[in-house]
Amino acid sequence: MGIEIKTHSPDETILLGEAIGRGAGGGLVIALIGEMGSGKTKITQGIAKGLGVPEDFRVTSPTFTLINEYPGRFFLYHFDLYRISGPDDLLDLGYEEYFYGEGIVVLEWAERAKNLLPTERIDVEISILGEDHRKFVFGFRGGIFDSLASEILTFLKSQKLDSGELLDADSPKIRRDIGS
Ligand SMILES: Nc1ncnc2c1ncn2[C@@H]1O[C@H](COP(=O)(O)OP(=O)(O)OP(=O)(O)O)[C@@H](O)[C@H]1O
Ligand SMILES: [Mg+2]
Repeated sequence: MGIEIKTHSPDETILLGEAIGRGAGGGLVIALIGEMGSGKTKITQGIAKGLGVPEDFRVTSPTFTLINEYPGRFFLYHFDLYRISGPDDLLDLGYEEYFYGEGIVVLEWAERAKNLLPTERIDVEISILGEDHRKFVFGFRGGIFDSLASEILTFLKSQKLDSGELLDADSPKIRRDIGS
């Protein structure tokens, strides 16, 4: 199954991230795919908030460190794979501890992890539609993400977003070439 949501401001994207952070269970892996400035870090800031990461932690792209760690209801491991030269860089990092651990993993430029991405994950493909306008397509892959999906749907209702849409698992809107 999938969900398509459009947001109209950075704050709305943070709210969307918060809904995800509230609904997230331990071990969740969120693969963010989207060009520069699409809002990967913004939505991660919301996820951190929803996970209860204290506000004095400033969530920024971990571009030079590859991974930032934040304490919350679960640990949040925020990766930025922009600068990796290939999936092998993740082997050196001991990625399995993170990808198959108890924390929540959020990956910017997730497609660069290729076949190291776990099969159970949520893909979030972000598109820039306009200056303040972004589209998020969630693809739920394997696993049971019901509580998360319902948090997101509650968010849609609370925001009275007319642009939210539920997608079938086989919807052509969900990209399938990520992680291969
Ligand atoms: N609806 C929106 N959602 C998210 N960000 C938005 C939105 N509208 C405008 N923006 C702006 O777009 C930018 C998104 O930046 P952000 O750092 O989150 O992108 P990114 O995808 O992490 O980029 P990078 O690949 O460089 O790390 C911010 O400047 C933000 O203010
Ligand atoms: Mg970023």
